[in-house]
Amino acid sequence: MTKLLITRQIDDAVLTNARARFETTVRTDPGGLSEAEAAKALTEYDAILPTLGDNFTAGAFEAAGAYLKCKVLGNFGVGYNHIDVAAARVAGVAVTNTPDVLTDATADIGWTLILATARRAGEGERMVRSGQWGGFGPKSLLGTQVTGKTLGIVGMGRIGQAVAKRGHYGFDMPVIFYNRSKKEAGLPARQVDTLAELMAEADFVVVTTPGGAETTKLIDAAAIAAMKPSGIFVNISRGEVVDEAALIDALERGAITGAGLDVYEKEPQVPERLRALDNCVLLPHLGSATVETRRAMGQLALDNIIAWADGQDLLTLVN
Ligand code: GLV
Repeated sequence: MTKLLITRQIDDAVLTNARARFETTVRTDPGGLSEAEAAKALTEYDAILPTLGDNFTAGAFEAAGAYLKCKVLGNFGVGYNHIDVAAARVAGVAVTNTPDVLTDATADIGWTLILATARRAGEGERMVRSGQWGGFGPKSLLGTQVTGKTLGIVGMGRIGQAVAKRGHYGFDMPVIFYNRSKKEAGLPARQVDTLAELMAEADFVVVTTPGGAETTKLIDAAAIAAMKPSGIFVNISRGEVVDEAALIDALERGAITGAGLDVYEKEPQVPERLRALDNCVLLPHLGSATVETRRAMGQLALDNIIAWADGQDLLTLVN
């Protein structure tokens, strides 16, 4: 029987479906596979359902070498920057991801961060919970109005468009976006030529690019410096897309008004300096974390592996 490794606990219904079809092993460790563990898994299983934090690096494929047994990595997640897909291809391992099914949930988290940061919800919540709230005050905890402000999207893919749609239709926001290639946004939105232009013009900047070498530190100190002092920065893509130290510096100096972050450079570590700041809202990578979405992601990852086992075309192949 085909041996499947699922590297983290997943939805029960998806797990039942996996067990019905494969000899399935599920890791109980909540942490990701190290490079050495990933290499070992590649030699022991026919198929793997990995996720963010599992280190399927070039080194892992190299270490597995001639003992490599695995033929498919059905990644749980749309982002696959933790997998060296080129090395996988050379090793004959197909890699798939889970696009579309998580677009709305992730856009909703983008909006959770926009609103929570603009309206100082984290600070307010801390105040209430710590018994420090002194009552309604005309000047207390004043935030930034969201409705009607300019929304700037960096990376106008599926998730960027879903964030933009909510801003345009729900909050009357003019939308601008920066994207590597020319893009039809599917709603009234203006594509700007440079990142600097977007950073300078937007009241809310939301980063929705994929991770990986091409976008690492795309948002650097100069990009952050181009933002308005009243600007709010939101990242729901990958931590490494942003120069985290430069962002912390800007937040500490009050050079921008706030930041809402769902992702970090070295997850699950979040720098102490960031955690000490009141003008940011910090979430633990919740983008796709709804019951419905996580079930759909698990099933899509599994369906790709089933397609491979049946000798059919993979549904969402990335390499
Ligand atoms: C989560 O961040 C994903 O890539 O699906």
